[in-house]
Amino acid sequence: MKLLGILMAGLIASVNGFDCSASFFAKYVNSSAKVTSAETLPAGSTYHVPASDLGFPDSPTNLPALCVVHVEVTPVPSAPYNFAIFLPHDWNGRTVTVGGWEFAGGIPYADIGVGVRYGFASIGTDFGHLSIPSDGRWAYHQPEKASNWGWRAVHGSATMGKDLVEAFYGKKVSYRYFSGCSTGGRHGFKSAQMFPDDFDGILAGAPAWWEDRLAIQHGWMSIENLPIDAPHHMSAAMYPVIGAEAVRQCDPQDGLKDGIISDPFRCDFRLEALLCGPDVKNSTASKCLTSAQLTTLYKWYNNWVEKNQTFIFPHFEFGSEAQWSGTIPDTAPSSLMLNWMQYMIGLGPDWDWQKDWNTDLVFYSERYNPGQCQADDFDMSPFYKTGAKILQYHGYADGLIPTRSSVYLYEHIYRTLYPKGIDLDNFYRMFFVPGMQHCFGTPPNQNAPWYFAGARQANSLSDSLHSVPGYSDPKHDVLLALVDWVENGKAPTEIIATKWHNDTLQDSVTRQRPLCMYPKQAKYKGSGDPDKPENWECKGLY
Ligand SMILES: *[C@@H]1O[C@H](CO)[C@@H](O)[C@H](O)[C@H]1NC(C)=O
Ligand SMILES: *[C@@H]1O[C@H](CO)[C@@H](O)[C@H](O)[C@H]1NC(C)=O
Ligand SMILES: *[C@@H]1O[C@H](CO)[C@@H](O)[C@H](O)[C@H]1NC(C)=O
Ligand SMILES: *[C@@H]1O[C@H](CO)[C@@H](O)[C@H](O)[C@H]1NC(C)=O
Repeated sequence: MKLLGILMAGLIASVNGFDCSASFFAKYVNSSAKVTSAETLPAGSTYHVPASDLGFPDSPTNLPALCVVHVEVTPVPSAPYNFAIFLPHDWNGRTVTVGGWEFAGGIPYADIGVGVRYGFASIGTDFGHLSIPSDGRWAYHQPEKASNWGWRAVHGSATMGKDLVEAFYGKKVSYRYFSGCSTGGRHGFKSAQMFPDDFDGILAGAPAWWEDRLAIQHGWMSIENLPIDAPHHMSAAMYPVIGAEAVRQCDPQDGLKDGIISDPFRCDFRLEALLCGPDVKNSTASKCLTSAQLTTLYKWYNNWVEKNQTFIFPHFEFGSEAQWSGTIPDTAPSSLMLNWMQYMIGLGPDWDWQKDWNTDLVFYSERYNPGQCQADDFDMSPFYKTGAKILQYHGYADGLIPTRSSVYLYEHIYRTLYPKGIDLDNFYRMFFVPGMQHCFGTPPNQNAPWYFAGARQANSLSDSLHSVPGYSDPKHDVLLALVDWVENGKAPTEIIATKWHNDTLQDSVTRQRPLCMYPKQAKYKGSGDPDKPENWECKGLY
């Protein structure tokens, strides 16, 4: 019976000529790694995400036939991490590795599910811990765990994953890609800076590259608006009111009145239009701001600058207000900020923003740099020299990571590489997305086209989606655009973003519009349906 069982297992494991057994994969991992499971899923399956996988709870559905392998890696005894690979039977010869989200721990199965539907062998790590995105307790005085999240788990799973992919198919991987947004975008830049050989193409959305300052900037904004009984305090109920006024003033300034703020950088927003009249007793009820509240709003819409004109962090854009209630809750700094201070940079659970806040903590944070997470090595010439490509994008309506932090990154890389004779356009291109929030979505009052199959976008709409339905090509799908650039040398100058009515795929496409390579911008040609991409062109500013 036992022998029969082994024979049967062998038969099942080698379905379609593929050996999806833990014992097979075990031959291809080194002594720091252990294959913990391997199983075949037939076409149409759902991968049921375990309840413990707190960071990424969505289960991908309707998967193609594939082999799922899990590996536990112990780079140092105190800090193991895990990774999973989805190996589709119908393989396109490539791999894609996905990135993280805030401080989340868990394998992003829904994201690797997206990759596998294209035919990529798709790799995702749990970043060495299990936690919801804003929870940093796992990192408290745990530098090795922080390193797993900072860079090591992505690097290790991509490199070991490649060996396992090649063993499974008995063929070399043709090209290796990375796709991530937010912390995942940071992982993309970190990888390009630390391990320039890991990927041939990197898609990096809204990168949290300036991680050591980011959550503290959110805290600074909150603290400028507190305490709640101060005359300068604005309640979160005012954020949509401010957002509506931003659209009212900034939308027409970009040349077309369509609800979308296409050029927040160059909008002259007169905040005084929000001021209350003389008889107003309750500004929140009247949807207006007092003079003291307006002063707070001025601070928020300007860069955070400290003593001696020291620039600390760029401000959020006009049009980003719909996401402020999570970033700047009106009663206390966000949980993300508190977890950063207390656990990620080790100040302890007793750290109290009301007693212990001071602006020098931003420099302390940068010295602490948990897990070497900050992706601020602007000399990306080693990555350039490998011939690899990186595509960055960022929504103008992002209310979690200021859009201008992407400009800062781009300009600093430019400033570093230009003197070395390196033209960024040859390997690094950036696209801004008018009206897009953090990584996906659009505020209801802007209703902008934001979908282009960027990292995490497909599973924000559906658990069974990939690419751009009806438009699965390099013009509309940014991952395919990256593939076309890496493999065929066709460098993208624009990507067409799509908007479905109510963001449900059952509805019709209501708008498509080009996103332009920075610093160009999409301009309406002046006639024709503005919801059709052919009536727009990418133009320089001057
Ligand atoms: C195992 O492989 C990983 C990834 O290539 C490497 O970082 C690690 O040092 C290796 N461990 C051993 C014990 O060889
Ligand atoms: C002001 O109006 C808001 C919204 O209607 C209400 O929640 C709040 O309690 C009012 N404040 C005062 C002091 O009446
Ligand atoms: C501002 O800069 C001056 C000159 O470098 C220095 O002496 C002074 O201590 C600085 N002040 C603060 C508050 O950092
Ligand atoms: C789209 O949203 C609008 C407004 O909420 C609603 O009236 C309409 O029924 C929705 N359409 C579909 C197809 O869900």
